[in-house]
Amino acid sequence: MQLRTVLILSLVSLHLISGCASTPAPVVAPVAAPESQPSKTSTSITVHTDRPKGQISRHIHGQFSEMLGRGIHQGIWVGPDSPIPNTRGLRNDVVAALRRAKVPVIRWPGGCFADYYHWKDGVGQRDQRRPQVNALWGGATEDNQFGTHEFMDLCQQVGCEPYICANVGSGSVQEMNEWIAYLNSDDDIPIVQMRRANGRQDSWHVRFFGIGNESWGCGGNMSPDFYADQYLQYMTYAWAYSGNFLYRIACGPNVSDYNWTETLMRRARWAMDGLSLHYYTVPGTWQDKGSAISFDEHEWFVTMQKAFFMDELLRKHGEIMYRYDPDKRVGLIVDEWGTWFNAEPGSRPGFLYQQNTLRDALVAGLTLNILQRHCDRVKMANIAQTVNVLQAMILTDNEKMLLTPTYHVFDMYKVHQDATRLATDVNCPRYGPPDGAIPSVSASASRDASGRLHISLCNLDPDSPMPVTVHLNAAQAKAVSATVLTAEAMNAHNTFENPDAIKPTELKDVRLADTSSVELTLPSKSVVMLEIE
Ligand code: AHR
Repeated sequence: MQLRTVLILSLVSLHLISGCASTPAPVVAPVAAPESQPSKTSTSITVHTDRPKGQISRHIHGQFSEMLGRGIHQGIWVGPDSPIPNTRGLRNDVVAALRRAKVPVIRWPGGCFADYYHWKDGVGQRDQRRPQVNALWGGATEDNQFGTHEFMDLCQQVGCEPYICANVGSGSVQEMNEWIAYLNSDDDIPIVQMRRANGRQDSWHVRFFGIGNESWGCGGNMSPDFYADQYLQYMTYAWAYSGNFLYRIACGPNVSDYNWTETLMRRARWAMDGLSLHYYTVPGTWQDKGSAISFDEHEWFVTMQKAFFMDELLRKHGEIMYRYDPDKRVGLIVDEWGTWFNAEPGSRPGFLYQQNTLRDALVAGLTLNILQRHCDRVKMANIAQTVNVLQAMILTDNEKMLLTPTYHVFDMYKVHQDATRLATDVNCPRYGPPDGAIPSVSASASRDASGRLHISLCNLDPDSPMPVTVHLNAAQAKAVSATVLTAEAMNAHNTFENPDAIKPTELKDVRLADTSSVELTLPSKSVVMLEIE
């Protein structure tokens, strides 16, 4: 309760989440009336089991792995001669964990690195590959031992789809066109002969292809009009090859740069399948972002409040996209998101290594709930980044590996992948000071192919447990069970000495009140997954 004087729970207000509210659809789904007066101390959730809201693409649970710091090197790639157990150089422990969490897609090689990466440096015999300096991220020498073949092997071992981001900032149209041919062509042309000489006979059928990264910043400092010109030129030669389909993703806005979205949609929507968006949750400033593990309740609240901003971003960018694309053909691809704190003391700052606590788990749960709510427009999202960088799923230290609280959230949420989203109303108290309070509870519900319902719930309040009643309209529930991720401390985290300090457990405090309602208590600062049969 230490910051209760600063963070007074504001007066109760009604927080209604209904339908996919991201676009000004001509017919707005009616907002369900509250069944009772909102309470200051409890939450009522209605899951409209008879109001399907489209499919939650599994790609919303995607990952981003840049050639940065110890993300690839040591984190994923140790090389075939390493004493660390590996398959063709890829860590067995990391691959197994990613497989278990059903990671659906990985974006690579950047990030900023993508716009100074020349793919030919990373193919062919490893001892003859051309090294380069990763100038933006830590100044380390990148030996290019992990290149196209190794990345495609990673995706195959994990069982996910590749998403490749091409170099626009310092590359050429020809270089990009040849990379696609190398990946996807089965024609008897020199670039395919080169791939075959490098050990890969058949094409890989890569589908997701980004054209530049952060072209408004590290990808070339372009204006939206200049990038639109560049995009149109590059995409003209982004051929799918050999009967493949290429899902072309244009570089989208930085956070709330709505003019960028407007320009790209107006000028190039016909030529793209997706438009990216980047947004990081930074509790402090870019100069002093705040510590990953030493923070008070004020910083906890600000982190949640800033994570919640994702909802406004998706709604506003979605509104602009809707004006040009009312059929929602163009996907919004949130291909970088997550927390960004000061680098771990003692680590190389440019390597962006940070610990991961229960606070990160709440950001992950809240953000996935928001992304899923906008699944009519959001077709992919990629948390930054998979291993050892920013809001990582996994941390490694030589042969040791640990799963972070963020990993556990993704693992719990995998039941939503490709399920049908159900309209959900949440009537809850707000959390935080009156002038900036946010809903204290976030929820997302879906029905999977076998008919099971899953409801993911986050209690953002670090002090107060929350009694919740879930009303299932039009459902005949027979059984309920729940998994919870929580801990005593806001900054609970796993260490290499104690890797299971925080992990999911069964939530006992849940019961069927009748065939259409479930009662439970969300522990303070918790992520819960309900399963209803
Ligand atoms: O994820 C780290 C960096 O953040 C990426 O390289 C860049 O795209 C973004 O600014």
